[in-house]
Amino acid sequence: MSRDGGTNEAKTMALNRALIFFGPPGAGKGTQAKKVAEKYHVPHLSTGDMFRDAIARNTELGRLAKPIMDRGDLVPDDLVMSMVEERLSSPDSAGGVVFDGFPRTVPQAQKLEAILERRGFGKPLVVDIEVDANTLLHRIAGRRMCSKDGEIYNIYDAPPKSPGVCDRDGGSLVQRPDDQPEIFRERLLAYERQTKPLEDYYRRQGVLETVDGSGSVEKVTGALAAILERAQQEAQQGRDGHL
Ligand code: AP5
Repeated sequence: MSRDGGTNEAKTMALNRALIFFGPPGAGKGTQAKKVAEKYHVPHLSTGDMFRDAIARNTELGRLAKPIMDRGDLVPDDLVMSMVEERLSSPDSAGGVVFDGFPRTVPQAQKLEAILERRGFGKPLVVDIEVDANTLLHRIAGRRMCSKDGEIYNIYDAPPKSPGVCDRDGGSLVQRPDDQPEIFRERLLAYERQTKPLEDYYRRQGVLETVDGSGSVEKVTGALAAILERAQQEAQQGRDGHL
């Protein structure tokens, strides 16, 4: 530990930017985004979780989003953006933020850029988690979610200690309505049509990193840590070069 009681480590652990997890449904965005947000002590902003929360609380936003999500379509950009802007107005994202499942369309990405610029953040770092379609289907079929705290399990690869019960709070585990195979197919189509074009959008900006998401959760976490450390070092060198 450093003589200043860990300040150096805190410095190397600072995110100070927006990190975007990108990839098809079931790629492991939520699983990895949660870990990175905890590691860097920044908010994990999942638009899917925010909509599910609005649905559970039966808010107007939830009532608008529910039938759209149940079909596997994307919620309109204006609803997504006003929800995200409101969330980002909270001061807890000053040190960076991890986005999961957002942005999902080019207009959302453009609007996010304007927000980040206003807040003094540079370009986001975008990590595309690549997983083949058969693995996605297997993961989606096995996913279960705690009805109380939203904790994610997988009956095949990451089961709870007692079947159907959340390890953390004893809540019952449920399957997301949009994880039914026919709805999952619609979500994949929406991803290909509306979200995949963002890959080129971010590649052209030089901010896209790709990670092989087909290995174990730990393996993917390790590959992501290496990408993030390299990006942090490059950002630091860029800042030093401007001194
Ligand atoms: P959202 O909740 O964002 O769903 P998604 O993007 O389709 O992604 P998923 O949550 O299905 O998958 P994930 O990649 O997070 O995988 P996970 O880590 O859980 O969106 C839902 C809906 O909300 C959308 O369809 C849309 O209607 C609406 N919406 C949300 N945001 C929107 C936006 N910005 N614009 C418009 N509409 C929006 O992992 C999946 C499973 O695999 C889990 O069981 C997990 O345990 C397991 N797993 C994960 N990693 C591994 C691994 N490496 N090895 C083995 N198993 C693994």
